[in-house]
Amino acid sequence: MALQEKAVIESKNVTYVYNPQFFKKGVTEQELERYCDVSQYESSGKVVQVFIGRGRTYLVNDQEGRRVIIRHYYRGGMMAKLLKDKFLCFSATADRSVQEYDLLLRMRAMGLHVPTPVLARVTRNGLFVKNDIITKEITGARNIGKILSERRLADEEILKIGDSIGTLFRAGIYHSDLNINNLLLDGADNPWICDFDKCEMTSITPRRYNEMVARLKRSFDKESEERSGMMWTERDFEKLVRAIEIVFKEKY
Ligand SMILES: Nc1ncnc2c1ncn2[C@@H]1O[C@H](COP(=O)(O)OP(=O)(O)OP(=O)(O)O)[C@@H](O)[C@H]1O
Ligand SMILES: [Mg+2]
Repeated sequence: MALQEKAVIESKNVTYVYNPQFFKKGVTEQELERYCDVSQYESSGKVVQVFIGRGRTYLVNDQEGRRVIIRHYYRGGMMAKLLKDKFLCFSATADRSVQEYDLLLRMRAMGLHVPTPVLARVTRNGLFVKNDIITKEITGARNIGKILSERRLADEEILKIGDSIGTLFRAGIYHSDLNINNLLLDGADNPWICDFDKCEMTSITPRRYNEMVARLKRSFDKESEERSGMMWTERDFEKLVRAIEIVFKEKY
């Protein structure tokens, strides 16, 4: 892993892990805090796009005119109503943004098509912590859900996407939320994968493989039910799975 891609500033309540390639030497805690502050981008008209998922993910223009994605971590499931974005400080994934930052670095070092991490922030308050992550925008990227609401994917594109998923699996990456909106095509039609919260490097057993493919299938089905006119068929999914298998199962 290239060391110059990770530096740390630690204060009493906040840890910042940042990419020195994005910040000037001697960057301060206050400057990093401001860099994460979405309201600052909102008030200066620097928000380019907002993605609504569990929470809101912002595509913004930073002061240097670079486009980055800012995501705050929210809870899912039963605890979402009660605790929203608060995670217990002693849980194994309390510093999940730092874990995602590290995994992104590791995957990029392996040549995988995943975003470049810019900054991870862990904010502690008593028993609870909150997390944020910032990544560099994949230029011109659009998620597959959005694309399929407008047009079909060409067979060649399905193949490329399957190839990138198979390559991820082959590298031993377990994606805990592999879904239609975490698969992207950039402006030059290259495939990318994003959203690595709670993902890990591990061995991809048949059980894990089946679980990820089943989740992906559910997400295509759910999106097709919810958005009328989604240009995606069962046959397209079969093509996608075949493309994943060609790469992933070559290993055996
Ligand atoms: N680095 C990136 N470059 C370009 N677009 C991105 C990047 N990261 C995320 N996006 C876009 O933002 C959307 C939401 O991002 P992401 O999947 O990380 O968060 P989320 O799905 O809202 O989080 P959650 O799973 O908690 O709901 C993605 O579907 C994708 O369209
Ligand atoms: Mg997502």
